[in-house]
Amino acid sequence: MMDRFSFEVTARDGLARRGAIRTPRGEIRTPAFMPVGTAATVKAMTPESVRATGADILLGNTYHLMLRPGAERVARLGGLHRFMNWERPILTDSGGFQVMSLSGLRKLSEEGVRFKSHIDGSEHHLTPERSMEIQRLLGSDIVMCFDECTEFPAPKADAAKSMALSMRWAARSREAFGDRPGHALFGIQQGSVFRDLREESSSALKDVGFDGYAIGGLAVGEGQAAMLDVLDYAPGMLPADHPRYLMGVGKPDDIVGAVMRGVDMFDCVLPSRSGRTGQALTRRGAVNIKNARHADDIRPLDEDCGCPACQSYSRAYLHHVFKAGEIISSMLLTWHNLHYYQSLMQGLREAIEAGALAAFVAEFEATRAEGDI
Ligand code: GUN
Ligand code: ZN
Repeated sequence: MMDRFSFEVTARDGLARRGAIRTPRGEIRTPAFMPVGTAATVKAMTPESVRATGADILLGNTYHLMLRPGAERVARLGGLHRFMNWERPILTDSGGFQVMSLSGLRKLSEEGVRFKSHIDGSEHHLTPERSMEIQRLLGSDIVMCFDECTEFPAPKADAAKSMALSMRWAARSREAFGDRPGHALFGIQQGSVFRDLREESSSALKDVGFDGYAIGGLAVGEGQAAMLDVLDYAPGMLPADHPRYLMGVGKPDDIVGAVMRGVDMFDCVLPSRSGRTGQALTRRGAVNIKNARHADDIRPLDEDCGCPACQSYSRAYLHHVFKAGEIISSMLLTWHNLHYYQSLMQGLREAIEAGALAAFVAEFEATRAEGDI
C-alpha cells in the first residue's frame, strides 16, 4: 500500500544489504546517507542542491527546532517540509542527545530532562511524550524514540542504568506515538560497548516493536576499532526485516565498515561541517584546501568528481575563497563533500547488487592509501 511505511531488502552481499524504504513522500535507497539539516537547513545548501547530490532523505533536530522557531510555529506554517522546501522524507532526532551535548544546566529524571536553552537560557522540559508531540508537529516521516545517549566511557553499572532508562522511555515513546500510517517510529539500542547490555536493549525494543531500529551510543569517543567491535554483533541483534540506522556516523571508512556489518542508514555532520572549515573529503582522503600548496594549483579538487566545485573551479580558486572568507567557499566545499558521500553510497548500493562488495571495498581502501596527489 502506497500510503504506508515499508522496508524491503532487494539484495545481499555477506551481511551487507541493499534495500528500499518506501514512504508516502518517496523512496529511500539503502544503504542511505542522510545529510544533517539541524535548523531547517543543510547549511550553505539549497534543498534543490542537496537533492542534486543524490540525497533521498534529510535529518532534522527536535532540540533546535523546538527552541527556534518552535514546533507549534512550524506546524502553523504548514510543517517542516513546506517550511524548508524539502518535500521528500525527513527523519528527526528526538532531542535527548542534543540536550546533553548543547544545552546549559540540565537535570535528568525518570520523567525526562529539564534544561536551559543554549540560545537564550530559557527553561524547557523534554519527555518522551513531548518529543513525540514535537516530532508530530514538525511532520517528521521517521520519528526517533526519546533516549539517553550513554556517555563514553561509562562503568558497566552506569551503562546498564542508562540503557534501562532509555528502554522505559522507548516504551513511553511507542505509547505516545500511537498509530500513524505512513509515519515510522524507530527504537534506539543502547548499552555502550557491553555486548550483554546491547542484547538486553535489543530484546526490550523488539518486545515493544518498532518500524526500524537504530544503534545509538556510538561515535562518542570510543574510536573506530571499538565501534567496529560493537558493530560485529549489534546489527545482528536487530530484526533483519526492518531498517537499521547507525546514529551520528561517520567518516567514509566508518560507513563502509558499518555497511559491511549490516547497517542500512547513516547521518553525520562531517561532510557539511568540514565543508565550512575548509576540509574536502575525497576518494583519496581528506584534503585541506587552506594548505598553501593549493594556491597556484589549476587542477580540480578531484578530477573524477562530477560535482560543481570539481567541474568548474580550480584548487587555487577554492583556496583563495576559503582564505578570503567568502561564502561560496562553504557552498562549494559542502556541495563537493555531500556529493562525495552520496556517490560513495551509490557505489556501495551497486556493489551489493552486483555481489561485488569485497572488490569495491578493496578499491576504496587502495585509492585512500594512495592519498591526495
Ligand atoms: N545521535 C548520535 N548518537 C545518538 C544516540 O545515541 N541517540 C540519539 N537520540 N541521537 C544520537
Ligand atoms: Zn567534487
